Amino acid sequence: MDMHQTISLRDSTGENTMAVPPLLVANNEGNYEITATEGTHEFYEGIVSNTLGYNGALLGPTLRLKPNERVTILTHNAMTIPTTFHWHGLIVDDTIDGGPQAIVKPGETRVLNFTVAQPAATLWLHPHPHRQTARQVYNGLASLVYIEDNLDLPNHYGQNDFPVILQDRLFNEGKLDYDFAYNSDGTKGDTVLINGTVNPTLHVGQELVRLRLVNGSNARNYTLTLSTGDHFLQIATDGGFLPQPTPLTSLTLSPAERAEIIIDFSHYNKDTAIALCDDEALLLPFIVTEHNHFSHLPITLPSCTVTAQELALPVSKTFELYGMADMAQINGKQFDPTRIDFTQKQGVTEVWEIYNKKDDMGGMIHPFHIHGTQVKLLARNGKPPVANECGYKDTIAIGVEERVRVAVRFMYKGTYMYHCHILEHEDNGMMGQIQVI
Ligand code: C2O
Ligand code: CU
Ligand code: CU
Repeated sequence: MDMHQTISLRDSTGENTMAVPPLLVANNEGNYEITATEGTHEFYEGIVSNTLGYNGALLGPTLRLKPNERVTILTHNAMTIPTTFHWHGLIVDDTIDGGPQAIVKPGETRVLNFTVAQPAATLWLHPHPHRQTARQVYNGLASLVYIEDNLDLPNHYGQNDFPVILQDRLFNEGKLDYDFAYNSDGTKGDTVLINGTVNPTLHVGQELVRLRLVNGSNARNYTLTLSTGDHFLQIATDGGFLPQPTPLTSLTLSPAERAEIIIDFSHYNKDTAIALCDDEALLLPFIVTEHNHFSHLPITLPSCTVTAQELALPVSKTFELYGMADMAQINGKQFDPTRIDFTQKQGVTEVWEIYNKKDDMGGMIHPFHIHGTQVKLLARNGKPPVANECGYKDTIAIGVEERVRVAVRFMYKGTYMYHCHILEHEDNGMMGQIQVI
């Protein structure tokens, strides 16, 4: 692929019902089991593609956890290639986190024990083996982890509370082919998969519907709207709720970012043409049916707030994002697993400033992600964050020539990654390590 070729998205024809991943059920001992496997999947009827998945051929089951729950997960690699199990957004120590140092070889099992130490959120699981992350995610390894809330929000899984994993793929005659689609600056495709479904449609009731949007794409940013131009309400960011439901008519998600939104379908009926769109294409047409549940939207939500002390802290760490393709780097360096780039004290809040420096090609947005923590946005180019970024974040889109400040605190000791979440940039070494002491 030519590095600078733009690949536009095609409209969903709506001919297939959007898949909803199954829920992961605990075994008889109360433990969860997740097995990475090689399989096949028919994205298009009659065409068999090789894929990867957790407990199945593509993507994986949704794991629902509760705050303070004590969890045991058996992670097993039944594939012929090494992998890791990374819990993106989960606040855990580095023995659980599943970064590139935590390789699970073919045939091996790793048992994870931890306690959920954070509030309700939509998080995700994906592989993280150095230089192989992009390929493994592209081929199908990704699944969701919910930390559940006890609010009166829509919460009937697959009925009025839907996971929406957005991924774009460039099919090679109906098959996934990473080498065919590969772009060193971020692999993109012309076809959107939602929860693995090509040309999806979704039936919804005349009620409040919650969509848990997850940008699981290797590199694509989405700017999401409703085809009617109507507003929707964002209630959560990557790591938890916003202080209030925030009305929006458009929402941009860079790779790995999440947002929970509520669409009020009570205004619509079976004759309404309405779809979730990107600025380029129609992604998910809705079919409104009469079925309904009762849920309502609280006026305020349990969120985080930025404190005066946090705002008064000086910047103590700076990160300069620069370059493209295999030159993409942070602070002039590329990833070296033997190098610790920064240290920070456990439990101490520091202000990190991340700067995206323009290059000769004009530069691009880099989604900056930090493992093992949820951060608070303090400022973008000196300005306070907009309403829908006032919740915990673990991935922050940094625009060209933008300078972003975040308050970062680690709960556990250990070594954690920070990196660009364009997966090809990450694999090319746009990643560093921080040791929490
Ligand atoms: Cu979602 Cu280090 O990754
Ligand atoms: Cu992560
Ligand atoms: Cu990048």
